[in-house]
Amino acid sequence: MIVNKEDLNQQETANAAHPVYPQIRARRLRVNSNLRRMVRETILTPANFIYPLFIRHGDDFQKPILSMPGQFQWSLDRLPDEIRRIVALNIPAVILFGIPEIKDACGSDNYNPEGIVPRAIRTIKDIAPDLIVISDMCFCEYTDHGHCGIINQIGDEHYEAHLPKGYLLNDPTLELLAKASVVHAQAGADIIAPSGMIDGMVGTIRSALDANQFQHVSVMSYAAKYASGFYGPFRDAAESPPQFGDRSQYQMDPANYREALKEVALDVAEGTDMLLIKPALPYLDVLSAVRKSYNLPIAAYQVSGEFAMLHAAAANGWIDLQRCALESLTSIKRAGADMIVTYFAQDAVRWLEGKS
Ligand code: PBG
Repeated sequence: MIVNKEDLNQQETANAAHPVYPQIRARRLRVNSNLRRMVRETILTPANFIYPLFIRHGDDFQKPILSMPGQFQWSLDRLPDEIRRIVALNIPAVILFGIPEIKDACGSDNYNPEGIVPRAIRTIKDIAPDLIVISDMCFCEYTDHGHCGIINQIGDEHYEAHLPKGYLLNDPTLELLAKASVVHAQAGADIIAPSGMIDGMVGTIRSALDANQFQHVSVMSYAAKYASGFYGPFRDAAESPPQFGDRSQYQMDPANYREALKEVALDVAEGTDMLLIKPALPYLDVLSAVRKSYNLPIAAYQVSGEFAMLHAAAANGWIDLQRCALESLTSIKRAGADMIVTYFAQDAVRWLEGKS
């Protein structure tokens, strides 16, 4: 780095004595594939991937999700075979989303010990005790209105006349998040991943886990989660679209970068063990900034819309799926992610092993 005038002069002299080109030819390091392999900076491995699973009520279901080719809703009886495939591919972790039979105003299936996700956790742990099970901790899949917590509605026991109707009630939602996190930990979850962008969610969940002797269970906070159009296919997959309004009163404005650093700082202060940034590709600037400022493990979520876009373009013959999917995943890791939540996890491991 040039720091003063003397250095600047030395630099100029050096440059005059050693012109940059043709002595320095950057392309020398790209001459053949082994050389390129030797100087490669970013390597994807199966350990980087977290695979999302949609678990639904009912029997004998492997229901295709049309907007997400190759992804399914699984009933519990069909889950074991899928889990064995994931373990065989050496993928270390899954993240679970539940589709309950009954939805209600407070999303009670999420904290029912016999609810869909606690049952799925037990099913998975029975056959694969070492597979890391991450529980996506949010209420949108369980509420009849499709929002991520308790909504201010006339007639509801939590109704607060001074707050706007339709407003997500932060602190009553925290109580339910704490309750559900303990239930999921009791079922065997290794990591609780609160994804609702509710203020105070990390600290509340940490205290509840500790108070119930789950000090060994980690929290992976969706610290910067944007109100993104790229979640479209997921809302079909999880059958969780909001029935009114959208999620911008709690998820972040895509225009904001500094605010992401504030959100991350708050979750770090509340004791999160890991951070998650979501979506991935449109927010690599945020990911890179968080990487530079924090030493915690960071995950990025390559969301349903990112996955669907790549598939749609490939299905039209416009791009090569394997090449572009691996390029996207490599970019996400290069920008600073240690872990990537991705629907491509199983394909990517096969591709990396040279099997297509
Ligand atoms: C739950 C949740 C969502 C996603 C992950 N957890 C939906 C949302 O916030 O609207 C989206 C994942 C994806 O699009 O792949 N809050």
